[in-house]
Amino acid sequence: MLEPAPWSGALTTPTLADENPDPGVLEVSLTAAPGQVEFLPGKATNVWTYNGTVPGPTLAAEVGTRVVVHFTNDLPEPTTIHWHGVRVPNAMDGTPRAMNPVEPGEIFTYEFVVEDPGTFWYHPHVRTDVQVERGLYGAIVVRDPADLDLGAVADETVLLGDVSLDPDTGALDETRDARDEMMGSEGNLVVINGARSNLGIDVRAGERRQWRVINAAGSRYFRLAVEGGSMVRVASDGALLPAPENLDELLVTPGERADLLVSADTPGETATLVALPYERAVGAGETERTALVRLVASDEPAVTPATLPGSLGDVPVLATGDVVRTITLGEVMEGDDIVFTINGASFPDVPGIVAGLATTETWEITNDSAMDHPFHLHGFRFQAEGVRAWKDTLNIPAEESVRLVIDFEERAGAAGSWMYHCHILGHEEGGMMAEVLVE
Ligand code: C2O
Ligand code: CU
Repeated sequence: MLEPAPWSGALTTPTLADENPDPGVLEVSLTAAPGQVEFLPGKATNVWTYNGTVPGPTLAAEVGTRVVVHFTNDLPEPTTIHWHGVRVPNAMDGTPRAMNPVEPGEIFTYEFVVEDPGTFWYHPHVRTDVQVERGLYGAIVVRDPADLDLGAVADETVLLGDVSLDPDTGALDETRDARDEMMGSEGNLVVINGARSNLGIDVRAGERRQWRVINAAGSRYFRLAVEGGSMVRVASDGALLPAPENLDELLVTPGERADLLVSADTPGETATLVALPYERAVGAGETERTALVRLVASDEPAVTPATLPGSLGDVPVLATGDVVRTITLGEVMEGDDIVFTINGASFPDVPGIVAGLATTETWEITNDSAMDHPFHLHGFRFQAEGVRAWKDTLNIPAEESVRLVIDFEERAGAAGSWMYHCHILGHEEGGMMAEVLVE
């Protein structure tokens, strides 16, 4: 791992500018194109960008807004945009099943209404591993003016990623060894909002900041903790929890989000958001502890944080579905290549599932492999059975089974073919992907 020096800065990302005066419409332009950024001081890295930056600018909207995105592909290969977690109409979902990829030099206009407040993100869905790891990802923040005031002094996006860099030249290192093929490649530098991590923010002890954490890394898991401070989770993947949760640590896998209230405990001391060691495959070894963000508390006396509301979101309990399906995640060697499978077959050969609109299904996901896989479903949200929190991405630990209850609720545009896959991007591209036809 490359060790970033402590530095001070701010958790900022550019925001997409609204080109439409109608307050009910957010009309923006987004261009994917090659570009250069500096992850290492004085060293330019060739990357792929949205509007020239890594990550791309944040798409920030109020709930109920009609979003129009004029997308231009200036990359040398086809691409699409997928709005991860946003319940868009099927034709806008950005998968090659839902639309033709946007060819180099072409323009495509995405249009949808953001119906759910929360934290989401966008990324391509063509050669996803390569395209995301070259820098194509950005945050989506949907705010509801009617939301409860959680008393946070700041509302910030913490978009986590990593890059593999040649430490001498700063060039992206896209070589993959057998371990990378198996595990998905992890970068040697963790970046937050595109900048090297370990930044320091001046705070007052006790003051809460709301952090919208998004894991956009291709493979890296972040087992988050706030050392010397407090961490309260208020939202899961784009939906408020029924009640705030005080946490010592939280595993955030690729694709997942969490809205956290964080604060430093002690005046004059530093609280640090860290990624604790995590072993995501049996025997693979743990990742190193990595410091991500430091909250540097002033000497002023701590403020007493306001009491949080006892209840936040209205999350129903989903009972076991009308249909129960078994889905098995696995991997096999084909010659020298590792192939990832769902029910024994690889995308596009995995038999499709047909589900009815307005039904509830239980999917028992069995992970038959020795490594964790984060399971992601497009278009619909689900709950881990018995856990009252909306999710669209959930870790299925190595050699375990998890039961998900999926609400195929009836909504405009929900009929169609929706993908589900592992969100370790090399696994997805290596075949651990399939589709559910909802009709
Ligand atoms: Cu963020 Cu199909 O994925
Ligand atoms: Cu996987």
